[in-house]
Amino acid sequence: MSADVAEKHFDKGLANTIAAESSMSYIDGVNGILEYVGIDIDQLARNSTFEETTFLLWNGRLPNQAELDELNAALRAEYTLPSGIIDLIKTFPADAAPMHALQTAVAALALHDPEADVNDPEANIRKAIRLVAKTPAVVAAFDRHRSGKDIVDPDPSMDIASNFLWMLNGEKPTETMARALDVCLILHADHGTNASTFTSLVIIATLSDLYSSMAGAIGALRGPLHGGANEGVMRMLEEIGDIESIDAAMQKKFDNKEKIMGFGHRVYKAYDPRATYLKTFARGLAEDTGNMNLYEMSSRIEEIMNEAVAAKGIFPNVDFYSATTYWSLGLKLDLFTPMFAIARMSGWTGHCIEQLADNKLIRPGSSYIGPHEMPYVPMSER
Ligand code: ACO
Repeated sequence: MSADVAEKHFDKGLANTIAAESSMSYIDGVNGILEYVGIDIDQLARNSTFEETTFLLWNGRLPNQAELDELNAALRAEYTLPSGIIDLIKTFPADAAPMHALQTAVAALALHDPEADVNDPEANIRKAIRLVAKTPAVVAAFDRHRSGKDIVDPDPSMDIASNFLWMLNGEKPTETMARALDVCLILHADHGTNASTFTSLVIIATLSDLYSSMAGAIGALRGPLHGGANEGVMRMLEEIGDIESIDAAMQKKFDNKEKIMGFGHRVYKAYDPRATYLKTFARGLAEDTGNMNLYEMSSRIEEIMNEAVAAKGIFPNVDFYSATTYWSLGLKLDLFTPMFAIARMSGWTGHCIEQLADNKLIRPGSSYIGPHEMPYVPMSER
C-alpha cells in the first residue's frame, strides 16, 4: 500500500464521512428531526408552499411577499419547454422508463440554454429557476406522449403543483389534490448529502454545469435503494394484493432475506419525520379517494416490520407512505420517482450553487487490492 493511501481511512459507502458543509437541511437521525434552514419540516409542510420552500433553501431565509411574488413570476415565466425538447420527447419510445426520459430531456435542456456553461451565481440561479420550472413539464409531456395524448401547455396562472396536475391530466386539479402534491414536494425538496445530491456535487465540483449535474442526480435517484423505493413500495403492495395475504408474504420476504422497500435509512435510526407526516396525510387522502385498502395494507406491513426490525432502528422512510399518497392522487406507478425528482430539483440546484461558492474538486482515493509486478503475457501465450 502506498504511503498516501495508508494515511487515509476506508469508509465503505462513505457512511461515516462528512463530505460537504451546507446551510440547507439539518438531519438528526437519532431523534428523527429534519429542518430546512432551521425550520422544522412539519412546520413547513403545514404552512409553506413548494415555491416558498425553494426560496428558503436557495436564500437561507423565508421570503417577504414581494420576494415570493418575484420568484413565482420568474418560475411561471419558465414553465414552457423549448419546442426542440417537445420534439425530442415525441421521439422517445412509449415504453421507455419515465426516469430515463426525464434524465435525457433534462440533459438536453442544456442544448437550448445559451447560459448552460456560465457558472456565475446569477446565471446559476436563473438556470435553477428554469430547471425547477421545466422538470414538471418534461414529466407531464412524456406521460402524455406515451399515452398517445396531446401535450398540454402549462398554465402560468397556477402554482407548480397545480400546473403539473393540469399538464398531466388535462384538467384542473381539486384544491385538495393540488395541496396534497404541494406538501409532497415540500417534504421531498431537500435532504442533506443523500446519494443523488452527492452525485450532483461531484459533477458540479469539476466546474461542469448545472444541467449535467441534474442529469447525473436523476440517474442516482432512480435506483431502488434511493428514490426508486417509492415505486418499489407500490409494486410490493400490488404483488401482495390484499390484507389477508400480508402476513404470509412478509414472512416469505424475511425468509428470503429481502429488504422491504420503504423501510430503513442511512441516517434515520428513528421514524423518518417526513414519514410521520405522510402517514397521516396518506390516510386522509386514501379515505377521500376510496383507497383505504392500500392504507390499511401499509399499516399492517408497518406493524409487522415494527415487531421484526424496529429494535434495529429500521422504520418507515419517506418513500413508504408517499406510495399510498401518490396512488391516491391518481399518479401512475412509474411516475412516483419522477415526482421525487421534480421536488428534489430545488435541493439539488441549491446544493450545487452552495458548492460553487466554496468549491473544491471532490475526488476520494481508493485502496488498490489487485496484484503488482505482473508480467505482460503476449496474446499467443494466454
Ligand atoms: N428491510 C429489511 N432489513 C433492512 C432494511 C429493509 N428495508 N433496511 C436495512 N435493513 C437491515 C439490513 O439487512 C442490515 O441488516 P444486518 O445488519 O442484519 O445485515 C441492516 O438493516 C443495515 O442495513 P444496510 O443496508 O447495511 O444499511 P444502509 O445504511 O447501507 O442502507 C438503505 C440504507 C439502503 C436505505 C436500506 O435501509 C434499504 O435498502 N432500504 C430499502 C430501500 C429503501 O426504502 N430506500 C429508500 C431510502 S430513503 C431515500 O432514499 C429517499
